Amino acid sequence: MAVDTTSDRQNSAIPDIESLAHPTLDERGRQRFASALRRYAIQDMPEAVHDDFESRIRPAAEARGTVFDSARAIDAAMEKEPSYQLYSALRYNAQEMCFLSVQDEVERALPEMIAVARDAAERNPAGGSLRLDPDLEIPRYVTALDVHLTPGCFHSEWIEDDVAQGAVVSLGARVFSASMNFRSWGGVARVISRWIKHKRPDFRPLRILDLGTSSGKNLIPYADAFPEAEIHGVDVGAPLLRWGHAIAEHMDVPIHFSQQNAEQLDFPDQHFDLIVSSFFFHEIPVKATRNVLAECRRLLRPGGLMVHQELPASNLVDPWEDYFWNWDTEHNNEPFYTAFRAQDPIALCEGAGFDAGRSFAHILPDVNSYPDRHSEFDWDEPGRPRHGKGGWYVFGSSLPE
Ligand SMILES: C[S@@+](CC[C@H](N)C(=O)[O-])C[C@H]1O[C@@H](n2cnc3c(N)ncnc32)[C@H](O)[C@@H]1O
Repeated sequence: MAVDTTSDRQNSAIPDIESLAHPTLDERGRQRFASALRRYAIQDMPEAVHDDFESRIRPAAEARGTVFDSARAIDAAMEKEPSYQLYSALRYNAQEMCFLSVQDEVERALPEMIAVARDAAERNPAGGSLRLDPDLEIPRYVTALDVHLTPGCFHSEWIEDDVAQGAVVSLGARVFSASMNFRSWGGVARVISRWIKHKRPDFRPLRILDLGTSSGKNLIPYADAFPEAEIHGVDVGAPLLRWGHAIAEHMDVPIHFSQQNAEQLDFPDQHFDLIVSSFFFHEIPVKATRNVLAECRRLLRPGGLMVHQELPASNLVDPWEDYFWNWDTEHNNEPFYTAFRAQDPIALCEGAGFDAGRSFAHILPDVNSYPDRHSEFDWDEPGRPRHGKGGWYVFGSSLPE
């Protein structure tokens, strides 16, 4: 599978850890099938289910007095419907298959992968670093279940210097999004960095931090956009960080990875100019979200900016879209989805000590999904693409100088 990289840089001193996995022909076929099934289940089927709801289920239920003013009301009406059940079962299985389909190739290549990651960590030829904390208490919201049906989740380690979960998360995610429309590698970060440059042309961050960075792929476009910045990524999963560090060193991008809980970080006050995250908050409890945002407030310097890409808040979408997004809460091992999305993002920022007037929540069009059209979208144009359909929902805030 081709990787759409954002950077041409490569450091020949560290081999590409991702290319060490060699799927057999059968495994490749299985991966292609899982990709296509997931795309069908998540992109095509919801439209058919929606049609079924509008044409058949809604009119009959409304005639009986049901009011569809919330995702919960739609959920109650759809739960037992065959169209919904087929869609939900396929979506669940497709999700699981994407990660399962890369496990064998990872297992075969694991010793070689570990050797590359160790070498990268010892030599750091690109100038990055890897700081692990074997005593870190991994939060229960990570250890208690295989988040988004990734077998082994983010943190599990079976052998010394294990990178298996980094490989499964990373290569599984490629299968997962391989045939999806509106997805590009590093797309979120490219969109956000372009937006920052548009909004604040004079902004020159000296230190950037990514929370829940996983293997740090979301950081590489920031390194391209702000080459003078020192770049940090934190995550609780050691295998992900080892994996990400090897990739960054191979790509010749100096990134400083550290294993830390984003609720309580060890950086000094006002250490960062830009704090970002992607697909992170919906996976942690709301209490943890508040702790992380309070850390962002502590760590941002005056004039600093925080931008988090997330799933759109319930109050920004209609009941059907709300219902669609909340599927993961009960079926994808992401139990905090609905509770996170029910929060008012501006109130969350305000609660963490940011000024509500400086806080924002909106959708940014993805320049990579619309290569011909992106310049035609104003950043806040009504009718611009929705989240996941060529747009990315972001929320955040900034501090005055
Ligand atoms: C869905 S992944 C998002 C990965 C990445 N940001 C991306 O855009 O692909 C969520 C990540 O958050 C990490 N995580 C969960 N709780 C955390 C916490 N309290 N502190 C730091 N990282 C955490 C997980 O280990 C996982 O790698």
